[in-house]
Amino acid sequence: MAEPTDATPWVPDSRELEDLESAAHECRGCELWQPATQVVFSSGDRSARIMLVGEQPGDQEDRAGEPFVGPAGRVLDEALTEAGIAREAAYLTNAVKHFRFEQRGKRRIHAKPEVRHVGACRPWLDAELEAVSPGVVVALGATAARAVLERPVKIGEVRGTVLDEAGPPERPRPPVVVTTHPSAVLRLRGRDGYDEAFAGLVGDLRLAAPFA
Ligand code: URA
Ligand code: SF4
Repeated sequence: MAEPTDATPWVPDSRELEDLESAAHECRGCELWQPATQVVFSSGDRSARIMLVGEQPGDQEDRAGEPFVGPAGRVLDEALTEAGIAREAAYLTNAVKHFRFEQRGKRRIHAKPEVRHVGACRPWLDAELEAVSPGVVVALGATAARAVLERPVKIGEVRGTVLDEAGPPERPRPPVVVTTHPSAVLRLRGRDGYDEAFAGLVGDLRLAAPFA
């Protein structure tokens, strides 16, 4: 068999989230499954009206099998609360569903996924978009934005507006808001730019909320 180039062979026809998640546990669409503990698929159900897309699971998410349960998830929770969005109303997922890292001694250091990993994992995101059919998608950071919009974007150029880009005919796309990744906000904690960065994230979530 030729080496697979993406997740397509593992994506079932079903659009039940439970079926998608269990199939994703078998995914070998790229090499990232191997060193990871497990796939981190998503949280939230199909009734969610707002879909938040992150980059990839972090160390804690990889161990727990749940997205956004670590430090970046806490920042996101605070921002959602501040924006008046209940976490239950949101569907949380990632552009890439396995944790990419470098082992340094006992520590596992986050390694940014490459464009080819984002592309390999994209069939899962398509299936999730069909399954949940959200009113709006919030892309958290550049990797998520690339996955959702299928083109490279600069956060600073696209944030603060609702992007209504049709997307390819076979994949109609809901309105998209691009914002900073909560990890980028977290890195500023205790420093000058933190309040502004956090307010920016909240502001972008507020922008998305009416479409949810
Ligand atoms: N960062 C992400 O992008 N996703 C997670 O699930 C956790 C941290
Ligand atoms: Fe499959 Fe995505 Fe994991 Fe790669 S990162 S093995 S494409 S689920």
